[in-house]
Amino acid sequence: GKTHFHNWDIAYKLKSPDCFQKLAITINGGTPGPTIDAQQGDTVVVKVHNKLFTENIAIHWHGIRQIGTPWSDGTEGVTQCPILPGETFVYSFVVDHAGTFIYHAHYGMQRSAGLYGLIRVVLPPGEVEPFKYDSDQSLILNDWWHKSAYELSLGLSSLPFGWVGEPDSLLINGRGRFNCSSVQGGTCNATNPECAPYVISVVPGRTYRLRIASVTSLSAFTFQIEGHNMTVVEADGHYVRPIVVSSLYIYSGETYSVIVKADQDPSRNYWTAVNVVSRKPQTPTGFAIFNYYPNHPMKTPSTILPLGPLWNDSASRLKQDMALKAHPDYNNPPPGKSDRLILLLNTQNRINGYTRWSVNNVSFTLPHTPYLIALKERLHNVFDQKPAPDTYDYKTYNIHQPPPNPNATYSDSIYRLKFNSTVDVVLQNANTLNANNSETHPWHLHGHDFWVVGHGVGKFDPEKDPKGFNLVDPIEKNTVAVQPYSWTAFRFRADNPGVWAFHCHIESHFFMGMGVVFEEGVHRVGKLPSRIKGCGASRV
Ligand code: C2O
Ligand code: CU
Repeated sequence: GKTHFHNWDIAYKLKSPDCFQKLAITINGGTPGPTIDAQQGDTVVVKVHNKLFTENIAIHWHGIRQIGTPWSDGTEGVTQCPILPGETFVYSFVVDHAGTFIYHAHYGMQRSAGLYGLIRVVLPPGEVEPFKYDSDQSLILNDWWHKSAYELSLGLSSLPFGWVGEPDSLLINGRGRFNCSSVQGGTCNATNPECAPYVISVVPGRTYRLRIASVTSLSAFTFQIEGHNMTVVEADGHYVRPIVVSSLYIYSGETYSVIVKADQDPSRNYWTAVNVVSRKPQTPTGFAIFNYYPNHPMKTPSTILPLGPLWNDSASRLKQDMALKAHPDYNNPPPGKSDRLILLLNTQNRINGYTRWSVNNVSFTLPHTPYLIALKERLHNVFDQKPAPDTYDYKTYNIHQPPPNPNATYSDSIYRLKFNSTVDVVLQNANTLNANNSETHPWHLHGHDFWVVGHGVGKFDPEKDPKGFNLVDPIEKNTVAVQPYSWTAFRFRADNPGVWAFHCHIESHFFMGMGVVFEEGVHRVGKLPSRIKGCGASRV
C-alpha cells in the first residue's frame, strides 16, 4: 500500500464554533482537524508537534486495530508516555480495513477542547461495497462547552464535586449555534462566519452516502434529516444488514454510514438535526442545512427544527441496538464458545467523598508507567498486580437501588487474557448514586472489533442468558452502548498482542474511573520504540 504523511501542529487558538469565542485545541489551526483519507492496507504516518505551552497530549486512532503497532494506539498511560509540550511524536500504523473511523485526544479532557477528526478508509480497487451511491459526505458530531478542558477536569476531581453540566451547544462538522443574547461578558457574535451552519448540498434525484461519526464528550444523539429516511449500511467499519430509520441513535465513539436519496420536494432546503437523548436535554438542537441544488445553501427552512424521539425512550434505543445485524454477504460469525466470561458492573461510587465511576467496585486510575512498557520490559511494582475482578455479587446485588456500599477502591489493576482465547464481556448497568437514575454508557474497546451477541433489560444471568446469545449474525463493532438498567454482551478474540484500554467513551466518565485494561500476548509484541518511553519507571 501507499504511505500517507501528515504533519500536525497542535496548538491553542481562539475559535468560535458556536459563535462564542474560546480557546480551542486545534490541529494546523482547525477544529475538527483534517480528515485522514486512505485505502485499506495503506500506512498512515502522523508527525505530531505539541505546541501547547503547558499541557501534555496523546492522540488515539479510534477503530484502527494497530495490528503489530500497539505502541501507536495513542493511549497515554496504557501504550505510551504523554507527548510533552515542545515535543514531537510520530504515529505510524496500517489502516487494516475499510470504513469510517475517528481520531481524538486521549489525555485528560482534551477531546472536549476540540482535538478530534475523521478517518475515512476506502476499499482497495476491484472490491465493491454492498450498496450504491453517487457521492460520499461526512459529518462529525460533537457537544461543546465554553469552559476549558482544564476547568472541566478540575471540577470532576475536586471536593465538592463540580460536574461538567450539560453542553452549551451541539456541533456538526465543528459548527453550532449558541444564543449570543444570553451572554454577559466574553465574545459572542452571531454573524461570525465560523459559526454559520454547515451545508450538505445535494442534487435532486441523486443518492448520497453520509458518514456520521460522534465524538461527543457526554451526549448521546438522535440524528435526522427532516423529511428523509436513511438506510443504515455501515457501523464502526462493518457492513450491516440495511435497516431504514427516520432518526438514527448515535453514541459517542460510534460511526455509521447511511444512504440518503434526495427524493423530496426540490424547491426548498431541509434541516439536518441532532438532539440529545438519554439525558434530559438542556442544549438547543444542533443543526446543519440539507440543501437541494439550486436553492441558496444558506436559505433556512421555514419549518421548525425536528425534535426526534423522546429523550428518555430507552426502549426505542434498545430496539435500534437489537435491529442491527451483520450484512448477510459479509457475515463473519464469532467462535461458538467462549473461554472466559467477564461480567462488569457499572456503578457510581464515592471514595473518601470524591464522586467516581467504578467497574466491579474498582475505580480505574492510570499508572505513571504505561502498561505496555511495564509488561513488555518487566518493570516491577509499577501497577497493582492483583488481577482485576471478573465478576460481582450478581446473585444479591440490586441494580435498581443506589449502590448499598458507596465505597469503592482505586486501582490500576488489569485483566490478563490468554493469547488467542475467546472472551465474553457483559456490561451490567445499574442505578447511580441518585435514586431512580441510570445512565447510558457507550463502551469502546481499543485494538479489536467485537461481536455484539446480546442485549437485555434488567440483570444479566450468567447461567441462563448466554444461551440466548446471537452467534449467527451479530454485528461487529468497536463501541457499544449499555442502556439504563440493562446489559450488553459481546465476544472477542484476544488475538492482538498488546495492552488495550476498554472504557466508557463519555470523556468525564473515563476520567472518573470508568474503564479497565486488557493485556494479551504482550510477550509477542516487537521491540518497543524508544519514543513511547521516558515517563514513570520507563527509561529511554
Ligand atoms: Cu475513542 Cu479510548 O477512545
Ligand atoms: Cu459512562
